[in-house]
Amino acid sequence: MKKIFLTIVFAFLFLFKSFADEGMWLPLLLGQQVYNDMVKKGLKLSKEQLYSINKASLKDAIVIFGGGCTGEMVSPEGLLFTNHHCGYNVIAAASTVEKNYLADGFYARNKSEEIPAQGLSVRFLLRIEDVTSEVVDSLKNLSGLDRTKRQTAVMANINNRFSDSEKNIEAVVSPLFKGNQYMVFVYQRYTDVRLVGTPPESVGKFGGDTDNWEWPRHTGDFSVFRVYMSKEGQPATYEATNIPMKPKWFLPISLKGVNEGDYAMIYGYPGGTNRYESSYGIKMSTDINNPTLVNLRDMRLKYMFEEMKNDPAVKLQLSSPYAGIANYWKFYDGETKQLLKYDVYGQKQKQEDVFLKWAKGKPEYENIFNDWSKAYDAWKPYALNRVYMNEGIMGSPLVGFAGTLLQLENAMVNQSSSADDVKKAIEAADNRRKSFLEEENKASDQNILGSALMLYYQNVPEEQHPTGFYPALRNAYGQLDEESTYRKYAGEVFKNTIIFEDAKWNAFVKNPDANILQQDLAFNVASTFIKNYNTKYAPYYSQFITANNELGRIYLKGVMEMDPKKIMYPDATFTMRVSYGSVEPYRPKDAVRYDYVTTAKGILEKYIPGDYEFDLPQNEIELLKKKDFGQYIDKKRNDLVINFITNNDITGGNSGSPVMNGNGELIGLAFDGNYEALSHKLAFDKEFNRTICVDIRYVLWCIDKLGGASHLLKELKLVK
Ligand code: ARG
Repeated sequence: MKKIFLTIVFAFLFLFKSFADEGMWLPLLLGQQVYNDMVKKGLKLSKEQLYSINKASLKDAIVIFGGGCTGEMVSPEGLLFTNHHCGYNVIAAASTVEKNYLADGFYARNKSEEIPAQGLSVRFLLRIEDVTSEVVDSLKNLSGLDRTKRQTAVMANINNRFSDSEKNIEAVVSPLFKGNQYMVFVYQRYTDVRLVGTPPESVGKFGGDTDNWEWPRHTGDFSVFRVYMSKEGQPATYEATNIPMKPKWFLPISLKGVNEGDYAMIYGYPGGTNRYESSYGIKMSTDINNPTLVNLRDMRLKYMFEEMKNDPAVKLQLSSPYAGIANYWKFYDGETKQLLKYDVYGQKQKQEDVFLKWAKGKPEYENIFNDWSKAYDAWKPYALNRVYMNEGIMGSPLVGFAGTLLQLENAMVNQSSSADDVKKAIEAADNRRKSFLEEENKASDQNILGSALMLYYQNVPEEQHPTGFYPALRNAYGQLDEESTYRKYAGEVFKNTIIFEDAKWNAFVKNPDANILQQDLAFNVASTFIKNYNTKYAPYYSQFITANNELGRIYLKGVMEMDPKKIMYPDATFTMRVSYGSVEPYRPKDAVRYDYVTTAKGILEKYIPGDYEFDLPQNEIELLKKKDFGQYIDKKRNDLVINFITNNDITGGNSGSPVMNGNGELIGLAFDGNYEALSHKLAFDKEFNRTICVDIRYVLWCIDKLGGASHLLKELKLVK
């Protein structure tokens, strides 16, 4: 009786859950039920207006910005909004200590002052097509590595067929529902993208890492770019004569502000979720992967910050990598805490029990958890080693670069490679070295290397250490339980490498000699650790990944079979999704209620003069104190609204995404998630999950009042 009751409650919960807030839906496959629910919640647009391949529609305003963010078109002249943290490396790269746009902000007064951003591109989605039968037919009866290989080949084939390099059209097949469905996404890439404006970092990253992933928040996390095309109207590389791109669609901007319960819709490119992760995977994250990553990043950040805080040039040089490392350092720390707090492991086990009962007598499914636990048990002894490699040893930028020279060594010693192969490998290495040196800060890197070697020694099981490495260290540099040993060795590595010496490096490039490379201390440490891992442990990892993928796919197939009426959305795969929900406050803990907006009042409360994270530009303080809010004022509050929260389902990759009202008008930009729901990649929490957005009125206030760039406002379509 009790069991039946429980199952009913479960089914109900699932059904209900899949119908509100939770879900990153494919705009192409919005079923009638989901669309109806959107309308019920406040959507005023037709399905055709949301996504169409025949007519211009909302989806045409949304782009992949760079390699991992979202942007949206906001004017008929190619103007684009995204987050400050998405434009961050472009802004830092355009800055010098004298002309420091990162610190002081920047607005082009006219188009000729816009700054070309080398290497930056945006991709517009042209269409999505279902190619499931083509892929699935070719994979029939295949499993394991054979299946993986065939899948890669078939997908590459489809990508080729749908791509057209002359028009910059690039197709990407994405396996959805863990490879139970396949869709091809066809994009057009524009490579002339220019920086138009940014607030100072003290506004765009106000609150720094202390406030990152947290609500209440007061951050102006936006930046402005413009997309250009050739005079003929085609995507083109940078030319001074290129003209602003005319998007098929751009978003009008609402100045009306938000109220509790208002409909909110977010389009964008969520990077990855794993909502059907097994209980074993949860355990491996909380016990091994996450805490190890966090410790190693802690160490790296500490050494980087030491150098950054006293030298503006180093600060500029390291700010972008630092922000990236810090962002996921805090994420994974929070993820562990929330997974434990909500007992996601226990929840998964319960779901797996339900599945197992259903699976009984079904040969495809009934052994799935036995197989899964075996796959994890086989990999677990080496999991730590992998994280120590990726986040520790390779966390030293020097070792990371030296590791890439293994390809060169290979070309040099391999009998079958031609002189031309070696020449190419040398050229590639020489180019990579140039970019490495631009980003390299030796002082922090040397400390990181010393610490990483010590932590590896202390924590990775001894039998997995590279043979002979640590005994040799002891013989030459001192006791292995003393930090000074590792410091001395790291010092030697940094002193004795041709990578830092132009004359020696150039001589080597002229006369490539494998011996010189192999005797180089930096190459040596990289090669020793990488070869140890690659030959002995990487094979276990690829076996594990193959099994884990296969079991994941079969499990999800079973879940869908078990409950065929359930409306499901695919995990995020960095493909275009739409999520809908509403503006909502929440209660993070007993007796505490968080409002759904923050205001300028809170900025002034947080302000700490001269602080690394909470300082503010002087003119912002003056304007806020004068309450000079112009047309951006929130009349109800007689204040400037800074950020707001919604219960939409998004994740990393959605950064910069437009938050829209029921009419498809821009009301904000999504830029973060809240701490209480940092388990969201693995389990969506309906009660606590919030998306943090910068109010579009604050964005415009920053451009207009703070930045004095009112000319940009003329391009926008404002809805008052
Ligand atoms: N947590 C944000 C995201 O992943 C990034 C915020 C960047 N700001 C920072 N203080 N690191 O989208």
